[in-house]
Amino acid sequence: MSLFDLSGRSALVTGAGSGIGQRLALGLAEHGANLSILDLPVQRNGSDRTAEMVREAGRDAVVIEVDVTDRQSVASAVQSHVEHFGRLDVAVNCAGVNHSSPAEELDPSDWKRVIDVNLTGVFYCCQSEARAMFEAGGGSIVNIASMSASIVNRGLLQAHYNASKAGVKHLTSTLAMEWVARNVRVNSLSPGYIMTPMISGPEWAEKIRGFEDQTPMGRLGTPDDLVGPVVFLAADASAYMTGGDLLIEGGFTSW
Ligand SMILES: NC(=O)c1ccc[n+]([C@@H]2O[C@H](COP(=O)([O-])OP(=O)(O)OC[C@H]3O[C@@H](n4cnc5c(N)ncnc54)[C@H](O)[C@@H]3O)[C@@H](O)[C@H]2O)c1
Repeated sequence: MSLFDLSGRSALVTGAGSGIGQRLALGLAEHGANLSILDLPVQRNGSDRTAEMVREAGRDAVVIEVDVTDRQSVASAVQSHVEHFGRLDVAVNCAGVNHSSPAEELDPSDWKRVIDVNLTGVFYCCQSEARAMFEAGGGSIVNIASMSASIVNRGLLQAHYNASKAGVKHLTSTLAMEWVARNVRVNSLSPGYIMTPMISGPEWAEKIRGFEDQTPMGRLGTPDDLVGPVVFLAADASAYMTGGDLLIEGGFTSW
């Protein structure tokens, strides 16, 4: 158990008011960590619910509003975390958006929004988190990428999303090498198709049946499936791993 024990550590999760981020925040708490729940003001109800679940699990939780596309907002959020908990040990950068459009018609504003949130946002978070972790003597950053960083999703028109996630994967290795001597590990976690609000509108119903057929395990993942992997990356169990990408996709990329 001790390899996966996060007791006494403090973690922050971005995008923790919904979907995967909400479940990962609770999963880190279930393994001992105290949590900062970071998300947009518009997601406040979801963030408050996450905080409530973390407290029910017996850990301390604080909700901090952030827009990851705003560097100053990110810096203040990380500072608020450190003021509350005294240090930052674990950061999971999960905030993200999806959008679909044929590439030849993709509007520049949609391109920019997806890159700003999914890639630039992760970079701003890593910058502030690493500085806090240097102060603490080290830490573990986990960036939520996607299998779309490595494959092209059949039938989905999302050049900007795929490019943003490939960017996150390589940014992760690059930052890991810059910070390796200062004891800050940086890894990415790349989920396959996971049932969350991001892929649950009526326009997704038909596609989801296709995703199930294309996945060797025959089902979509759930946020629960990502708890073990994120705890592994956050905890001492992965002490000799940095710059890596952990694919959790029911075998999808093997076919
Ligand atoms: N659902 C999937 O199949 C899947 C697969 C692979 C990767 N992912 C990735 O997992 C992450 C979480 O996705 P999800 O499925 O839980 O989606 P979700 O929509 O349920 O959650 C995304 C969260 O990010 C927050 N967010 C968006 N823009 C933000 C901003 N500018 N600042 C702060 N927070 C912001 C949203 O408010 C929301 O709470 C994303 O990075 C997504 O790309 C999802």
